[in-house]
Amino acid sequence: MNVVLTLETTCDETAAAVVNERLEVLSSVVASQDALHERYRGVVPEIAARAHVERILPVVDEAVRQAGITLDDLTAIAVANTPGLAGSLLVGLVAAKTLCVALRKPLVAVNHLHAHVYACRVATGRDVFPCVGFIVSGGHTTLYRCHSPSDFVWLGGTIDDAAGEAFDKVASMLGLPYPGGPAISRAARDGDPRAYTLPRPFLKDDARLDFSFSGLKTAVRYAITGMGRCDFRTLHLPAQQVADLAASFQEAVVDCLVAKSLLALRRTGLERLCVGGGVAANQLLRERLTAATQQAGVELCIAPLELCTDNAVMGAIAVERLRAGATESLDLDIQPGLIRPK
Ligand code: KG4
Ligand code: ZN
Repeated sequence: MNVVLTLETTCDETAAAVVNERLEVLSSVVASQDALHERYRGVVPEIAARAHVERILPVVDEAVRQAGITLDDLTAIAVANTPGLAGSLLVGLVAAKTLCVALRKPLVAVNHLHAHVYACRVATGRDVFPCVGFIVSGGHTTLYRCHSPSDFVWLGGTIDDAAGEAFDKVASMLGLPYPGGPAISRAARDGDPRAYTLPRPFLKDDARLDFSFSGLKTAVRYAITGMGRCDFRTLHLPAQQVADLAASFQEAVVDCLVAKSLLALRRTGLERLCVGGGVAANQLLRERLTAATQQAGVELCIAPLELCTDNAVMGAIAVERLRAGATESLDLDIQPGLIRPK
């Protein structure tokens, strides 16, 4: 049976997993860099790349050890080579290629966004294709029509910030810790989501499957500071104002995410929505998507929390590519930008 080692270093998580052809997860190791980036309230690409260099080999060793196999037992090495931070991607790719050369194993390329959708396939243990795939993370807010694990068509996405990035930046303005998503959710519990009227770009525009969060972020800034300049580091907002802003912001983001994923389902006529990415851990988003898909009579698959945030288990999509004979030459390069197929 095919057994694949998958590597994931697209952003700030150094991860490796061992999965077999039946999509059984033999091991999964994730070394988070949150502590390194916390003081900057966002991922610093150079720090991320250097941390991957230090961690990738121990993480691979640990994944192989936990799987109870040796490197020789592997059929192939898979690595996410797109999209992501250039320096981070390079570390994973070089590690994967080196293992392939040393072990004489084939290399399999993984698209990180497709892998986020595939996390739903691994989690449910049954076929989830065709579906609308929705990736909501710190770097991406992207909708795909997914015919099969190898056939993804880009439907729409953010024209500026990703949803998670907006959570992180707004948390920073509110004096909340990094990563901002969980911190905003917690603060929002005591807040009134109607306290502030915030913009919901494209919400009523049924012609577009796009998102925009940078104006929403700016609107939060103006709600805090007015039009004037302000040093957020020295600002101490009353707890109720923080809670109300967090709740109002979260509500606006969730409204947009739910509306566009439902629009994508209507447009494509597909009857299943598969959601992945760190923001899919958001409880309000989960509840609203559950209610909206139930009402629309379509199926919802959201990966469990540990498979929503970046991990290497979702790289199990490599098993599909391997089965189809889609291995790569050692000339494989990174592709940091998002590929938008027509
Ligand atoms: O998928 P992920 O781990 O990394 C990327 O590929 O970006 O997503 C990280 C993002 C961060 O922006 C974080 O703030 C957000 O996911 N996030 C959340 C929640 N948990 C994590 N956003 C909203 N609500 C949450 N509960
Ligand atoms: Zn991701």
